[in-house]
Amino acid sequence: MSDPLIAAATNARERAFAPYSKFQVGAALEALDGTIVPGCNVESASYGLTICAERNAIFRGVTDGYHCFKRVCVVTDTDKPTPPCGACRQLLWEFAPDAEVLLANLKGDVIRYTVRELIPGAFDGKQLGG
Ligand code: THU
Repeated sequence: MSDPLIAAATNARERAFAPYSKFQVGAALEALDGTIVPGCNVESASYGLTICAERNAIFRGVTDGYHCFKRVCVVTDTDKPTPPCGACRQLLWEFAPDAEVLLANLKGDVIRYTVRELIPGAFDGKQLGG
């Protein structure tokens, strides 16, 4: 696996805390300066408090001072790569609107999208009249 973004998301998946769903997800974001920010899903016994891997990576990136990302990768151990949920698409739109999205599995399959393709007609700060 030669792409360091896929490698980072694959490693992050190993750290997923998913005792309820058993569905481990790893994500990684590439900031404009090349910095890679990983994230994994973290589940709660109060299920609705669970945070997805993609949003965890975004929040970690923002905490580290990165507000815009040029590539995103999501890795799962599934037959076909897994697309981001709607909540994660919304946050990706706000922090990575021009990003390429790599959806990968452990078999080495990679499906490519853009964030724009995944969330057409999105809501964002422009609708708030700012
Ligand atoms: N999950 C993610 O981490 N990312 C997604 O885009 C979809 C779902 C996680 C949340 C939960 O821990 C598990 O996958 C099952 O929904």
